[in-house]
Amino acid sequence: MKIGILKDTKPGERRVALVPESIGRLKKKGVDVVIEAGAGAAASFPDSTYTEVGATVESSGSAVAAAADVLLRINAPTNDELDGIPEGKGLISLMFPLGNKELVSRCRDRKLTAIALDRIPRITLAQSMDVLSSQSNVAGYRAVIVAAQKLPKFFPLLMTAAGRIDAARVMILGAGVAGLQAIATARRLGAVVEAYDVRTVVKEQVESLGATFIDTGIEQDDAGSGGYAKETTADEQARINEVIAQHLENTDVCITTALIPGRPAPKLLTGDMAKRMKPGSVIVDLAAEQGGNCELSQPDETVDVNGISIMGPTNLPGEVAHDASRMFSRNVEKLLLYLLTKEGQIEYDFEKEIVAGCVFTHGGEIKDSAVAESVAGGGQ
Ligand code: NAI
Repeated sequence: MKIGILKDTKPGERRVALVPESIGRLKKKGVDVVIEAGAGAAASFPDSTYTEVGATVESSGSAVAAAADVLLRINAPTNDELDGIPEGKGLISLMFPLGNKELVSRCRDRKLTAIALDRIPRITLAQSMDVLSSQSNVAGYRAVIVAAQKLPKFFPLLMTAAGRIDAARVMILGAGVAGLQAIATARRLGAVVEAYDVRTVVKEQVESLGATFIDTGIEQDDAGSGGYAKETTADEQARINEVIAQHLENTDVCITTALIPGRPAPKLLTGDMAKRMKPGSVIVDLAAEQGGNCELSQPDETVDVNGISIMGPTNLPGEVAHDASRMFSRNVEKLLLYLLTKEGQIEYDFEKEIVAGCVFTHGGEIKDSAVAESVAGGGQ
């Protein structure tokens, strides 16, 4: 069994899907690794760190694709790149196949075993393989750093000979994986933090990190939702907005991380709400790529409205490329070890929940019914 690590071609991507420390552990299970030259360089893993652990280096992606049984990347290949992958190979990366007709039909037609890391079920057994969580963790951290850099104020309270400087006030909307890490990071930098999530069960976690939970009077329990939020009604969202808007007037940094899987990003901040913040304030919208939690955010741009900076970075983990790659790699390693047989071969047993959840094409068929339905419905 040979695993091939491809250099990611998505503009601005700096991460690599497998790092040298994982390779040693995979080799012990009989797996060989080949890497495209320079694939880890932007994450500070030069080729020499791979050869030291016994990987071989090939000069091109096509040579890696020819040599390996299973190919690894961070992001899905482009359509042209998919057409260049020899038939029957395995392909593991973030893919977001729902509604992506082109990607899914190409993977099927090339008889690829396509594994979408973003579709690994959020169950206890798969926790160590959960790339979305590990990368959201990085994003929550980085969002605070980015905001702190932009804010023309200190985060901590300072008592100096030049007077007292009050701590920055930070609001986190959505207290899932990214939100909780953002709370923890902002607290470590000394900010006064408050947070809101529509799922009331997270109140305790928010408070245990030293933040205040904003009470909007709208509550959801977790029952029957697999730990995810349900969509709020327009009426509920209007009531939430009223309370959040009052808190925003006194907020220096607002980080939005709200998500409902499979739905457009919930709109938590209208333009009017955002404009109630003071000049110099910063909004970081983690959901900018999915339409934004803030009406005014634009993917990968900083919009300036009345002196308020609204930032919509779409690849925060890529800005912490070394450690984000290490976490991504550990997730992929755990998945590979789960798929490997005692003989060191990869086995796709569709009776297993994790395999059924993330393998969407295999042997020329679409295996995942949700993906099949979404592309039959005329996605792009
Ligand atoms: P998660 O599912 O762990 O957390 C999302 C939270 O939003 C949940 O706790 C949910 O209850 C809450 N929520 C949903 N609707 C809400 C509403 N109307 N009001 C308040 N809270 C609401 O998701 P995770 O992993 O923390 O990801 C958060 C977001 O960050 C996602 O949109 C994800 O795509 C994005 N992300 C962005 C990155 C970037 O570089 N920009 C990198 C990684 C993730």
